[in-house]
Amino acid sequence: MKTLLITGGCGFIGSNFIHYALAKYRQYRVVNLDKLTYAGNPANLIGLVDDDRYRFVEGDICDPATVGPLVAEADIVVNFAAESHVDRSIMGGAEFVQTNFNGTYTLLDSAVKHGVERFHQISTDEVYGSIDEGAWTEEWPLAPRNPYSSTKASAELLVRAYHITHGLPVVTTRASNNIGPFQYPEKRVPLYITNAIDDLPLPVYGDGSQVRDHLYVEDHCSAIDLVLHQGEIGEIYNVGGENDATGLEVAKVILKRLGKDESLLKFVTDRSGHDQRYALDSSKVQALGWQPASDFRVAMERTVDWYVENESWWREIKERQDYKDYYQRNYGNR
Ligand code: NAD
Ligand code: DAU
Repeated sequence: MKTLLITGGCGFIGSNFIHYALAKYRQYRVVNLDKLTYAGNPANLIGLVDDDRYRFVEGDICDPATVGPLVAEADIVVNFAAESHVDRSIMGGAEFVQTNFNGTYTLLDSAVKHGVERFHQISTDEVYGSIDEGAWTEEWPLAPRNPYSSTKASAELLVRAYHITHGLPVVTTRASNNIGPFQYPEKRVPLYITNAIDDLPLPVYGDGSQVRDHLYVEDHCSAIDLVLHQGEIGEIYNVGGENDATGLEVAKVILKRLGKDESLLKFVTDRSGHDQRYALDSSKVQALGWQPASDFRVAMERTVDWYVENESWWREIKERQDYKDYYQRNYGNR
């Protein structure tokens, strides 16, 4: 039996990864440490309550007293826990610095004290900033441009330092925009799908020309799995879906799949410091044998269909007062 400590496992990607890992590896146990912020949802893991290989611990990755014993019993740590939404980081960055930077520090420090086989840091393409043409390789300098991405880049520097200084066996993956089941409906794709179902406007920041690469979350999980087991210690791997699309293209594909009219598109004030384009060169992880299984059309269709079929999951979130307050705060004056 191997024990994986997964942090942030009640969020979007972490919960998908827990399902993926427990389905694939009979001999793995998962301990999920999650603070249950607004984005953490135990309902994402409801299917695992009777699986005795799964244990949930409610707690904060910034708290050494909580983290220490969990790291001590783990063979592997995979750090998903983060404040993850760019718009919220623009409204206020304190929790981003606390969780994304101090939380990563607490985990690293504990991992050195107790010794682990691997520490896998889940990072993002946003650490590179914005690129007008071409694609980033892993050697590209870090040049984050918003508070969220700068805390993720800072966390990466700590991970690197703990490897060089203390010999901690680390790997890092930098992924592009994930889409799929269990994504909190503040992120563009689930927000657009759920708004469109209710005939509400789809807010398009600026002119909708910004380009993002889209990665189906299951493809991200398979890449994490591969790097976790076969990636070289100390290395960083880009993970992109090779599914570029502009904001307007994404909105139109969603409306078409749902049979809704483009009159639902609403151009609103742009995001401050909006990154124009992200593009990853993923040849390094591909050389390990990874390929995304879902192209843009398949990834979008599977995603739209999941939200159509799982209406109670997202309605429960959108009916919460904290969601309504956030929505008013972010979109009220746009
Ligand atoms: P999410 O916001 O859906 O989930 C984050 C989870 O972390 C939540 O369950 C939350 O409760 C938990 N959490 C937050 N602060 C915590 C703390 N102090 N202690 C313990 N748990 C805490 O995020 P996501 O979209 O699933 O992203 C997961 C990771 O992947 C993040 O590190 C993010 O930077 C990275 N990432 C995300 C994307 C994407 O497209 N969503 C792409 C690349 C990388
Ligand atoms: O690229 C990886 C990153 O992808 C992750 O590191 C982040 O955690 C994740 O949130 C995501 O960041 P983005 O800022 O790219 O995702 P978001 O869904 O917030 O926005 C996607 C694009 O859509 C971006 O160009 C802004 C635009 N947008 C977003 C929202 C919420 C809109 O036009 N309207 C909106 O209402």
